[in-house]
Amino acid sequence: MRAFRISRHGGPEVLEWVELPTPEPAPEEVLVRVRACALNRLDLWVRNGVPGHEFPLPLIPGSEIAGEVAAVGAVVRGVEVGASVLLAPGVSCGRCDRCLGGEDMLCREFGLLGEDRDGGYAEAIVVPGRNVLALPRGLSFAEAAALPLVFLTAWHMLQTRAVLRPFEDVLIHAAGSGVSSAAIQIAKLIGARRIIVTAGSKAKLVRARELGATHAINYRQDDFVTAVREITGKKGVDVILDHVGGETFERSLRVLGWGGRLVFCGATTAPEATVNLRVLFFKNQSLLGSTMGTLAELRRLLEFVEAGSLAPVVDRTLPLERAVEAQRALENREQFGKIVLTMD
Ligand SMILES: NC(=O)c1ccc[n+]([C@@H]2O[C@H](COP(=O)([O-])OP(=O)(O)OC[C@H]3O[C@@H](n4cnc5c(N)ncnc54)[C@H](OP(=O)(O)O)[C@@H]3O)[C@@H](O)[C@H]2O)c1
Ligand SMILES: [Zn+2]
Repeated sequence: MRAFRISRHGGPEVLEWVELPTPEPAPEEVLVRVRACALNRLDLWVRNGVPGHEFPLPLIPGSEIAGEVAAVGAVVRGVEVGASVLLAPGVSCGRCDRCLGGEDMLCREFGLLGEDRDGGYAEAIVVPGRNVLALPRGLSFAEAAALPLVFLTAWHMLQTRAVLRPFEDVLIHAAGSGVSSAAIQIAKLIGARRIIVTAGSKAKLVRARELGATHAINYRQDDFVTAVREITGKKGVDVILDHVGGETFERSLRVLGWGGRLVFCGATTAPEATVNLRVLFFKNQSLLGSTMGTLAELRRLLEFVEAGSLAPVVDRTLPLERAVEAQRALENREQFGKIVLTMD
């Protein structure tokens, strides 16, 4: 099979176009012919490297994958050769207390396709049978690939960690990111009152409004702290979804209301921030770290996708061969939603 693989960290030049043997599925695994693989910010962390973190190189990146089942291991049940499928991006042991308790992303062996084992920038992939889900009805491979990691992350953040309630106000940063373009829709589904978003361009703000944002702030032109105070009559918001990190975190806290919850799943800009503990306890506020979500949550949210209440946001599709160009576009923050690689 052909694939993009990295053997060392660096710029786009470290993505090598290689010919590799097609992997063989173990008895509990499934071989999937990849038809689409969506990009994530994670792919850039994997390529560039993260100080203090070791990735298992050489590695094929790509965490969000849809395709067709090509072979099924001897002990896998309920997966048929030829079926169109979507892959859950998280792999866990399936045996520990966390896994059995339905918190698979807290399993000590938890890892992601494209980060901890080979991913989808390839013509084929092997995954545990448990990770194989039916392709949501009515979706193309590219649309399905644009879903699982970002919707699951946003779902877990708003539904499970921050418990956003109907008629609460929410602030969502980086509206054009994969995670936030999902989060806007989930906030709308929950019935949030004001869905305030930030982004770095007018075009992204227009798209965010189409998805359900009620107020859109161009943070390059306007200070979002002032804007949010104006919009909420100084009250601040009940929930903030942030993954920009150091650049926004401290200012976000300034518009978090009494009883507010700030939930974050990343720190794109910087991993450090200063927090005033007195304000935090006095206002009964919560800081909530969040990573991925459970397999059960993924299956649940896909029901809303099939019902048409949540929809993948595909910015563009490019053939796998153009993965370098696709990563450059993501790095330049050109996209609204997801950039998806496709294979015929
Ligand atoms: N823990 C988890 O489970 C989990 C899961 C998914 C993602 N994440 C993390 O969440 C973050 C978002 O991921 P994603 O894949 O949704 O991102 P993405 O699609 O690449 O979008 C990131 C957006 O952040 C905004 N941004 C603001 N400041 C930036 C800066 N200095 N450099 C780059 N972008 C900046 C950009 O929008 P503007 O141009 O409008 O500013 C950009 O489009 C990443 O840090 C990722 O690692 C974590
Ligand atoms: Zn486990």
